[in-house]
Amino acid sequence: MHVVETVADVRRFRADLAGTWGLVPTMGFLHLGHTSLVEQARSENDHVGVSIFVNPTQFGPSEDLAAYPRDLEKDLGLLEQAGADLVWVPGAEEVYPPDYRTYVVVEEVTRPLEGAARPGHFRGVATVVAKLFNVFLPDRAYFGQKDAQQAVVIRQMVRDLNFPIELVVCPIVREADGLAMSSRNVYLTPEQRAAAPVLHRALSAARDLWSSGERDGEQLRQAIRRVLDAEPLARSEYVSAADPRTLEELGLAGRDVLLSMAVRIGKARLIDNLLLGDE
Ligand code: PAJ
Repeated sequence: MHVVETVADVRRFRADLAGTWGLVPTMGFLHLGHTSLVEQARSENDHVGVSIFVNPTQFGPSEDLAAYPRDLEKDLGLLEQAGADLVWVPGAEEVYPPDYRTYVVVEEVTRPLEGAARPGHFRGVATVVAKLFNVFLPDRAYFGQKDAQQAVVIRQMVRDLNFPIELVVCPIVREADGLAMSSRNVYLTPEQRAAAPVLHRALSAARDLWSSGERDGEQLRQAIRRVLDAEPLARSEYVSAADPRTLEELGLAGRDVLLSMAVRIGKARLIDNLLLGDE
């Protein structure tokens, strides 16, 4: 496994490859959610590249950029095991030199949910992912359903800007008690960690309603809120039952719905979601 820092290093490695090349973008502090993406990329491509970069442009001024957890040595061990061929670990100035001036703004699908709660977040995500695509020139790029809106935003960008890249969205990897794996789970105290599966329980309650035939968006949102409100350590930021493609809130759902939420527990801001469809 090669570990490199500069754009020129990645380009040189890429130029010599034959066969298909899959990319997994990450911000590091890796867990089984991240390595599941690498393993899927490994199984579908001849070569796999991974980026580890805590992207400053996607963090708001009051967010956790400085505190974002890091453990490069452990990350490289996990990536070696998962079968990565190249890991790009650029410094901040390699990605954003002092005279950097260009940003990618995806409209509409960036407005609700995370976009409303975190102004500028998706401008930073779309910009860095466009740069990663141009640096790696992958055939396929792997993202997690964990960040459902991010996947929708990147899909829109790929279509709008004609990136010749196939997006692959991989399922959410969860802890045994249902908590979605996240680098930010380390912010939870033991007591808060014990409360955190409430997000998954809330989604499961709405899924049960859906299975019994409920298609009213407000009923689905209320079912989620009822479970969240019963947990004193959880403070919900938004609860959504939206069209999975446009992310607009649904009055009445058709064949599918994306249930999603952001919840504060202590210092951690946790997100989770569930995509429900007809079959
Ligand atoms: P990061 O939060 O490190 O996540 C990297 C990728 O791993 C994302 O596609 C995310 O959806 C996926 N992922 C995280 N937790 C997961 C889980 N429990 N199950 C499945 N997949 C999971 O998302 C980012 O970084 C950044 O915004 C990035 C795309 C790298 C741009 O900076």
